[in-house]
Amino acid sequence: MDQKSNTNGIANGNPSMRITLLFSVNDRVGILDEALKAINQLNVSLTRIESRPSNTGDWDYDFFVDFFTSNLTTVQTVVECLEKVSGNVKVVSTGASNPAGNSVPWFPRKKSDLDSFAEKVLEMGEELSSDHPGAKDPVYRARRAEITRIARTYHHGEPLPRIEYTDQEIATWAAVFRKLTAMYPTHACREHQYVFPLLIENCGYREDNIPQIDDISRFLKDCTGFSLRPVMGLLTSRDFLNGLAFRVFHSTQYVRHHSRPLYTPEPDCCHELLGHVPLFANQDFADFSQEIGLASLGASDEDIEKLATIYWFTVEFGLCKQGDEVRAFGAGLLSSFGELEYCLSDKPTTLPFDPSKAAVQKYPITDYQPVYFVAESFKDAKDKVREFARELNRPFDVRYNPYTETVEVLDTRDKVVKYAHNIKSDLQNLVNALEKI
Ligand SMILES: [Fe+2]
Repeated sequence: MDQKSNTNGIANGNPSMRITLLFSVNDRVGILDEALKAINQLNVSLTRIESRPSNTGDWDYDFFVDFFTSNLTTVQTVVECLEKVSGNVKVVSTGASNPAGNSVPWFPRKKSDLDSFAEKVLEMGEELSSDHPGAKDPVYRARRAEITRIARTYHHGEPLPRIEYTDQEIATWAAVFRKLTAMYPTHACREHQYVFPLLIENCGYREDNIPQIDDISRFLKDCTGFSLRPVMGLLTSRDFLNGLAFRVFHSTQYVRHHSRPLYTPEPDCCHELLGHVPLFANQDFADFSQEIGLASLGASDEDIEKLATIYWFTVEFGLCKQGDEVRAFGAGLLSSFGELEYCLSDKPTTLPFDPSKAAVQKYPITDYQPVYFVAESFKDAKDKVREFARELNRPFDVRYNPYTETVEVLDTRDKVVKYAHNIKSDLQNLVNALEKI
């Protein structure tokens, strides 16, 4: 059992802890009823029940249940109760409460905490919707299952999995690569164009080769401290954004279906590696992305929604100024030749980037965007997001410690004094350096 309570400083007697449990079962009539009845007998009322097909091979279904409780003994009792009907029960997350008594959702404090997200993808990488181009292709589905299983079993600190791509997958990648790289000189922002040749040189970006996330992650780490980790499919907005706080980007490794190389209804490695990766090598963009991530830690559901929408209008579909011109920097644009053309035409509406406006802007998921926001620069966007984040409803502040790769909650005088000493030492270095120039 994976108890995370110790790492998050949750003590018995906490007035409002939100607990998320995972339990897996095999397909047998009445099994879910049995499990829920057992929980009800403990006088625990569930606030969420979610089921997904299990991807482990050992179980048919995974269930995620949320409930609130005042102490950890209840959690233990529920776990023991579920263990009578399921051979796989895990505490996936625990939420602490803030001084006002409102629940603060659990959030990762160290990089290895991101391992807990692997169990919580919204859509399994192999479970394709009926309108997915590969839905009726058993060979494609089996391949997806193989690649997503690798992502599921990955743990922080292990070498990133290398995938031996098939000729068919490479041909699909090549079609996308050819089409998009021809457009980058006229449509992509200068930062993307600056990094792309470096990825060709250092990470095996070529028409006839799908780069490995292991090579890319090492490159990014050297540039900005960003790293990649494999993911099975779509994470929740909260989990995905929380990863950015640690300068971690979750990347899929499977390739879209070969029947429609220029279309994908979901993120695949063409989208991640061509659209997202280049800008994570840019310091200002990396800082901007982490800023959204840090704001998401322990944020309310309502604020997560706002931050995810800001992410949508920047990291996915952002435009930016470049002299007198406007260029694309969003990964959803840089990985879609149709929308890349469209976004810079006179058809859509463009607005200056303002996080408070972007946060509440409605958007379609499957069509081209009717509205885009244009950032002055990544640095300007970061400053604006930082300012926006200050207004969010969170009763504490956080800072990322790059030495320990942990998030520190600045909620006691001692922690803030320690932080001030660090800044003082940095400032002294700065003064010394200035005096020597
Ligand atoms: Fe994306």
